[in-house]
Amino acid sequence: MANCLVTGAAGFVGSHLCERLLADGHAVVGVDAFIPYYPRALKEENLAGFRDHPNFTFHELDLRADDLSPALAGVDAIFHLAAQAGLVRSWDQFDSYMTCNIQATQRLLEAAVAAGVGHFIHASTSSVYGRFATGDETSPLEPVSPYGITKLAGEHLCRAYAQKDGLPVTVARLYSVYGPRQRPDMGYNIFIRKILDEALITIDGDGTDSRSNTFVLDCVDGLVRIFQQPEKSVGETFNIGGGEEVDVNQVLAILAELTGKTPITTHGPKRPGDQRRTAADVTKARALLGYNPATTIRDGLRAQLEWQRAARYSEN
Ligand SMILES: NC(=O)c1ccc[n+]([C@@H]2O[C@H](COP(=O)([O-])OP(=O)(O)OC[C@H]3O[C@@H](n4cnc5c(N)ncnc54)[C@H](O)[C@@H]3O)[C@@H](O)[C@H]2O)c1
Repeated sequence: MANCLVTGAAGFVGSHLCERLLADGHAVVGVDAFIPYYPRALKEENLAGFRDHPNFTFHELDLRADDLSPALAGVDAIFHLAAQAGLVRSWDQFDSYMTCNIQATQRLLEAAVAAGVGHFIHASTSSVYGRFATGDETSPLEPVSPYGITKLAGEHLCRAYAQKDGLPVTVARLYSVYGPRQRPDMGYNIFIRKILDEALITIDGDGTDSRSNTFVLDCVDGLVRIFQQPEKSVGETFNIGGGEEVDVNQVLAILAELTGKTPITTHGPKRPGDQRRTAADVTKARALLGYNPATTIRDGLRAQLEWQRAARYSEN
C-alpha cells in the first residue's frame, strides 16, 4: 500500500483517480481548493462517494498560497491534476490560468522536493502540441491558447525540478477526457444537457473537428500504470489518450441514437485557440506500460448519458 496525494481530487478526473487508487488498496490524500470555475456543489458531489472512506483524507488547500507540508507528510507519490482547465476562458481570465497552472505547480514541486516524494506524476494536455495533436511525444510543442501555454510551462517546471533536485517526474499528456462527472463546460456535457432539454446546440465551425476522446476510466488507468511502473515511467513523457477518433457530427449522431431525440443544431464561428484535430498516438504508453484504452465512444457516451440523466433527476 502506498500513500498517494491527488491534487484536484474534487475535480472530474481527480475524483475518479482517487476512487481507483482506494479500490487498489492505497491510502489517498486529496487536495482541492474548489476553484469556482464551476460550482462547488458539483465538486462536493464528485467527492461524495469516497469522502468517508477510511483510507481517504481531504485537505481543502489552495496550492498557490497555503502551507502544503502537512498534506505532503509521508506521501510516496503525487498525482498533480489540479489546474485551471478549459481553453476558452484562458483568453480573458489569464490570471487564474497563470497562477493555478504555473505558480501552484512550482509551489507543489518545491514542497515535493522538501518532503522527499518518490514520484511526481504531472497531468498535462494534448493542447501543448497546438492545433494538431496527431503525432507522438516528440512532436513540436506549439500551443495556440493561453491554457496550453500555461500547461506547457507546468511541464517545463517539472523537468527543471527533476534536473535540479533529482525529483522523479513523469509527464502525462491527457486527450479530451469524457464520461461521468465531465466538467459542465465541456462539449459532450453541453450536448447531452441540451439534447435532454431539447435546446439549441451551437456547433463551433462545421462539426468536422475531431477528437481522440479518452473515457475517464481509461485515462485513470494510464495514470495508474505510470505510478505502478516507475522503473519505466520516471523521466518520461507519455500521451494518454483514447482509441477512437470521432468528429462532432458523429458524436451528435450517436447521442441521437442513444437518447432517441434529434439534436437541434446551428453553426457558429470556430473558437480561437481550438484544436482542429487530435488523434492520440499512444504507441509509447502501449509498449512501455501496457496501456490499452478499450472503451468505445458509444459505451463511453452511454455511461456519461446515464450519469447526466441521474443528475438531472436529483436536481428536480
Ligand atoms: N478533462 C480533460 O479533458 C483534460 C484534458 C487534458 C488535460 N486535462 C488536465 O487534467 C487535469 C484535471 O482536469 P479536469 O477536467 O478534471 O478539471 P477539473 O476542473 O474538474 O479539476 C481540477 C480541480 O483542480 C482544482 N484546483 C485548481 N486550482 C487549484 C489550486 N490552486 N489549488 C487547489 N486546487 C486547485 C479545482 O478546484 C478542480 O476541482 C488538469 O490538470 C487538466 O489540465 C484534462
